[in-house]
Amino acid sequence: MTAGDHAVRREIADWPDRLEAACEGTRFDASRVRVVTTCDSTQDLARTLGCGAVVTTGRQVAGRGRLGRRWADDSGLGIAVSLAVEPTDSTRLSLAAGLAAVEAVVEVRPAAAARVGLKFPNDLVDRASGRKLAGVLVESDADAAIIGIGINVETRDWPEELGAIALADLVAGDAPARIEVLETLVPRLDEVLDRPLDDLAARFRSRHAPTGGRVEVETPTGLLRGALLDLDPLGELDIRDVDGTRHRPLAARARIVSWTPPGPGA
Ligand code: BTN
Repeated sequence: MTAGDHAVRREIADWPDRLEAACEGTRFDASRVRVVTTCDSTQDLARTLGCGAVVTTGRQVAGRGRLGRRWADDSGLGIAVSLAVEPTDSTRLSLAAGLAAVEAVVEVRPAAAARVGLKFPNDLVDRASGRKLAGVLVESDADAAIIGIGINVETRDWPEELGAIALADLVAGDAPARIEVLETLVPRLDEVLDRPLDDLAARFRSRHAPTGGRVEVETPTGLLRGALLDLDPLGELDIRDVDGTRHRPLAARARIVSWTPPGPGA
């Protein structure tokens, strides 16, 4: 075992008790909390435990991302957590997971509130640089939906092409302990999952970082470029191109492939 493994073990020693306490009064089940020193993907263990499971790890070495990508954080400096819930409407799960993550981060570090936003469908991004802070992966089957959340907490050397940033960078090095975010996230996700869909959409819309900036959006009819005036996660985007023409592709069928944050005074 390396010195790094010892440090991780020390760090996570009180995580089971703290996460079990965080489950109280929620849909999550203290008897299905698992904290492992290291694992491939927390998604897999959560699936075997079923609904109510909360699985996290000191270091995830083969994390999965959306669209068949890898989640490239095996440093032990970020959060990797999977929470298993009843399978339901995938839009609700997707919106709720991103919102819960951003709201938990801001609750633990209010200083990050001006910097952390959402990018449809559920990435957490830095409003200033456009870099990605966290991602969400929902994997569902007939028995359970596994909500996986990865958050970059402490800074590390990111390969430039990842366009990543850490919470520590947004709060002048004052990153919270990983467990602080985790124990806030569990009840926050529980609350958000019960909200009416309209409320989720309004909360999401108000935190959508690319709105007001310039975007490139892939749609079934081709690539759109322009100013993003609005995005309703349950409805349409509103994009104004250079000619002033408005385009309103459906959010469910659109993908923001790149965006430039709104400039000062935009
Ligand atoms: C993405 O942005 O592509 C989604 C990333 C999701 C990563 C999390 S980390 C915890 C859980 N376990 C995984 O293997 N993936 C998710």
